[in-house]
Amino acid sequence: MLVCSCNVLSDKQLRKAAEEMRQDPNGKMPTPGSVFRHLGCRPRCGGCFPNVIDIIHQKASEDQAGSGATDKPDGETKLLAAGE
Ligand code: FES
Repeated sequence: MLVCSCNVLSDKQLRKAAEEMRQDPNGKMPTPGSVFRHLGCRPRCGGCFPNVIDIIHQKASEDQAGSGATDKPDGETKLLAAGE
């Protein structure tokens, strides 16, 4: 599904990029801006950001569930704290 029409990015591309960033021990925390940079793009209108944030949260929650972690991350707080 197309999520960002400005950069023609799909949900699959965004999920994969966020996962790659989380797996890199020296990588940045996935935020909309950092995920776009990871994909070699720049945010333009920002209209897709709510959906991009949801996609990043979904992937983070799935990763947490798969790891057996019991507490849920407060991803939105982390994203806002990153200044994105
Ligand atoms: S729709 Fe993604 S930056 Fe415009």
